[in-house]
Amino acid sequence: MNQALSTAAPADLTRRPLLSTTLHMEPGDAQAWVVVDRMVDGLAMGGTRMTATVTERELAHLARAMTHKLALVGLPIGGAKAGIAPAPGAPVQRREMMRSFGRAAAPLLHGGVYLGCDQGTTYADRQVAFEAAGYDVAHRTGATRLTVGWDELWTHMADVTGFGVAVAVLGALHAAGTRTPQRIAIQGFGTVGRAVARHLADHGHRVVAVADVQGTIEDQNGLPVAALTAITSSDGAIDRTGLPATARVHTSGKAWLHVDADVLVLAASAAAVGEDAVPEVRAGTVVEGGNMSCTEPARRLLRESGHTVLPDVVVNVGGAAATGCVLAGLAPSDLPMPRLSAWLREWISARITRNCELVQELHTSGSADPIAQLLTAKGAHQDPVA
Ligand SMILES: NC(=O)c1ccc[n+]([C@@H]2O[C@H](COP(=O)([O-])OP(=O)(O)OC[C@H]3O[C@@H](n4cnc5c(N)ncnc54)[C@H](O)[C@@H]3O)[C@@H](O)[C@H]2O)c1
Repeated sequence: MNQALSTAAPADLTRRPLLSTTLHMEPGDAQAWVVVDRMVDGLAMGGTRMTATVTERELAHLARAMTHKLALVGLPIGGAKAGIAPAPGAPVQRREMMRSFGRAAAPLLHGGVYLGCDQGTTYADRQVAFEAAGYDVAHRTGATRLTVGWDELWTHMADVTGFGVAVAVLGALHAAGTRTPQRIAIQGFGTVGRAVARHLADHGHRVVAVADVQGTIEDQNGLPVAALTAITSSDGAIDRTGLPATARVHTSGKAWLHVDADVLVLAASAAAVGEDAVPEVRAGTVVEGGNMSCTEPARRLLRESGHTVLPDVVVNVGGAAATGCVLAGLAPSDLPMPRLSAWLREWISARITRNCELVQELHTSGSADPIAQLLTAKGAHQDPVA
């Protein structure tokens, strides 16, 4: 094992975000915040989340997780996160809300804090905010000069987070010496879940269950991923009227935990697997495709009971890493599509695969917290907000 890793001390647990600010929104009935966990080389990045329940504290955790993700892949960029909480009961004037957010966040955007999309915001929302801020990411100093627009880049890269999660699964199976098709269960059939399903099915694995917010759909002979995708809305709701006749539909809360599967990919909300659920997990490998999909105690218990856990900060970095490579100017300037997409995927794939190997090595050598050790070794002394 790498000597630096074997001797690294646990990371500091007390550091606060660099900046946490409340934005003045017009009309003033919505709340909005930007949290910058850390600036590196004058740059930080993260998404803008719009939910009814988002809080500044939640953003601080997510900004810290971004710092961790970016440090783990070796990008010289700090983590940030923004949040908008529309007023309860008031009609959401979406365009006006994003304009207001853009105007208020303008000094941060121009000061090196890139705020992209996240849960509840779309690429179009991001554009409205950027226009209101007079900010054009394509002209950011130091960024890769793309031969295509950002919208075309993202048309090619929309699946990249799920791609990275699938790369992590394939690497873990390979490292474990598994050479036969595996049964895959996926909780969440949104942007991430659908892409994981497609990439793993393309590699010969059998997707035996997928779940959306309404329940779980199972077929131990394998679900037809492309056909299921075709009857799924952009927000990940699967139309039950179009299911294949062989599919079994479970409506009970967490049926995806109990289906027979070798790999369980969690690609929905946070804390999907808590301590109580650990004894119910059947799959040998649990993958955090979503952010904080397992609670910290659940993650530890899963490992102690012999499961392989692929943690969020290592596996779901694809989208952030692709953006980060362009923002930091690491991606080559002269590549047309689809070669730029291939370059980014290669870059992301190599780092996710290596980090999964390191986590597994540290775990096998008895480390209680492989991620903290890896972060310390990479010089990123951050941990959850105290
Ligand atoms: N999209 C990205 O690039 C990206 C990047 C990093 C992390 N993430 C994280 O990954 C997770 C999934 O993101 P997404 O973009 O695919 O979201 P999405 O909104 O596109 O899809 C979410 C899916 O989860 C399902 N779902 C919600 N609650 C559920 C429940 N209780 N049980 C079963 N299914 C449930 C929804 O029906 C939907 O199918 C989120 O935690 C997100 O923050 C996403």
